[in-house]
Amino acid sequence: MKIRKAEPGDLARIVQIEGLCFPEETAFPPGMFAYLIRYSVALVACEPEETILGFVMGYTSGTYGAIYTLDVHPGYRRKNIGSELMMALEKKLAGMGAKAFRLEAALDKPGALELYRKAGYQEREIVRNYYGRGNHAVRMWKKLVSRDPPLRE
Ligand SMILES: CC(C)(COP(=O)(O)OP(=O)(O)OC[C@H]1O[C@@H](n2cnc3c(N)ncnc32)[C@H](O)[C@@H]1OP(=O)(O)O)[C@@H](O)C(=O)NCCC(=O)NCCS
Repeated sequence: MKIRKAEPGDLARIVQIEGLCFPEETAFPPGMFAYLIRYSVALVACEPEETILGFVMGYTSGTYGAIYTLDVHPGYRRKNIGSELMMALEKKLAGMGAKAFRLEAALDKPGALELYRKAGYQEREIVRNYYGRGNHAVRMWKKLVSRDPPLRE
């Protein structure tokens, strides 16, 4: 498996995976993905022969990075692909100046919540109706831990 930058030619497969991950009412529309592939930090995980297995998209704003979306094809889950995509995105966003990361996760997706917790994210607040009326999200944050050695006195 390799992780690379998403390209406009990946749109159809990304839309297909989104359709397998989310019901129509909450899935991002294709136009949104076309925009995100172009303007956000968008990465795809591929098999050696280029079949896309999952993707992640995010952006930076000042000193924080935000994760828009993370999807892994249902046939390829629990193989660490989601976690590796998150790590790759965080690395890119950190390289662009992010010192902390933010995301919103659906309360009815315990698998995703567990992945984010394992990746170091902590629940901060409930965002009511984030996914539409009655569908709440939890906002999670992760602070980047500096690997620099502490300054000597
Ligand atoms: C959430 C999602 C991205 C996880 O992708 P993945 O590649 O299967 O995740 P990983 O293999 O990296 O999982 C890492 C850890 O997260 C936790 N986890 C992942 N999926 C889980 C599940 N369904 N149930 C419980 N824990 C889960 C586990 O602790 C797992 O480690 P383990 O397999 O050693 O037990 C994937 O299930 C998905 O695309 N779901 C639909 C879309 C979605 O919900 N996106 C997130 C929106 S907030």
